[in-house]
Amino acid sequence: MASKVKLGFIGSGGIVKGHLDQGLKDFSDVDFVGWCDLNEATAAERREQVGGRGTIYSDAKKMLDEAKPDAVYIMLPPFAHGAAEALVIDRKLPFFIEKPVAIDLATARKVAEGVEKNNLLTSVGYMTRYRTSVQRVRDLLKKQSPVMMHGGWLGGGPTLYEGIWNWWVQKDKSGGQFLEQTTHTIDLARYLFGDVTHVYAVAVRDRRKRPDFFTIEDASMVQLTFANGAAANLYSSCCTSIGGGIFLDVWGTDMKAVFTGWEHSVKVSLPNGEEVSIPGEGNIFAKEDRAFIDSVKAGKVKGILATYEDGLKATAIACGANESMKTGKVVKLDA
Ligand SMILES: NC(=O)c1ccc[n+]([C@@H]2O[C@H](COP(=O)([O-])OP(=O)(O)OC[C@H]3O[C@@H](n4cnc5c(N)ncnc54)[C@H](O)[C@@H]3O)[C@@H](O)[C@H]2O)c1
Repeated sequence: MASKVKLGFIGSGGIVKGHLDQGLKDFSDVDFVGWCDLNEATAAERREQVGGRGTIYSDAKKMLDEAKPDAVYIMLPPFAHGAAEALVIDRKLPFFIEKPVAIDLATARKVAEGVEKNNLLTSVGYMTRYRTSVQRVRDLLKKQSPVMMHGGWLGGGPTLYEGIWNWWVQKDKSGGQFLEQTTHTIDLARYLFGDVTHVYAVAVRDRRKRPDFFTIEDASMVQLTFANGAAANLYSSCCTSIGGGIFLDVWGTDMKAVFTGWEHSVKVSLPNGEEVSIPGEGNIFAKEDRAFIDSVKAGKVKGILATYEDGLKATAIACGANESMKTGKVVKLDA
């Protein structure tokens, strides 16, 4: 590979802007060769962001064949996954994919099979794993038994249904708040406590007057059982305007950790009254992007903390929750 990693993007919307702004656009060992988006104006904005580097496409296949990227960023909304991954896997290219990796388990499983068969390097945008606070708590949990946790993403929800908030409020497009947004906390729960075996979920609906196309739940509570016997309760809400936010309270046998905010600052309480506070990082995308680019250059994992398999497992938990919301039954996840 040449000294610069040639990147192509499939989906060039808001999250791509975030990755570029937080550092990727200034990586000296990266070149931008292709911007694909169904909306060419959006692709043109991203191209503009990197000083006009790269070509605009509305067809992913054409971009892969003409621009010939060394690695691909798949940055699509939940409902749009599957076809792009198949093209990328066919060409055996490493890829970074934003969370959630799919809206349904069949799509995620098919992609995971292709990744495994071709031994592809992947990274999923679970950036919270890269935080110092999370690493510290994970280390502490290795020396004790995980017990329980509760937390989630609570807010008042969108009032204007434009941009991402248009697809976000449609269940068949976003998969609902738990699958689309609280997926970060699902992944964090797995990262700290391990694999999940059972899911039970309750949906809360019709709390506010909404337009007809608003088909996601207003809120949900999801109970998880981990393979090691620990438990979690995760909340999502887009109808509670007061007292919400992003948080996760975690108990081990000798520790309580309280994560708060998008940046996941943590306050850890330890035996004998000891307390440790670690502020969360405002810029975390650059760290996960650095790990991905370093890995592509090395041809092996170098600092990537979440792979496609993690994306598949988070999707399995969220799809289990969606099924449980429908049936009212506990869902046992496949091993
Ligand atoms: N890691 C994070 O914290 C974080 C933050 C925001 C969004 N995201 C995730 O990133 C993904 C994208 O979100 P976004 O905010 O960029 O949404 P967005 O709506 O701003 O951008 C998505 C873009 O994909 C394009 N698109 C849709 N289908 C396509 C296709 N088949 N081929 C090419 N382009 C296609 C759309 O035209 C749109 O421009 C979502 O899954 C979201 O959950 C992650």
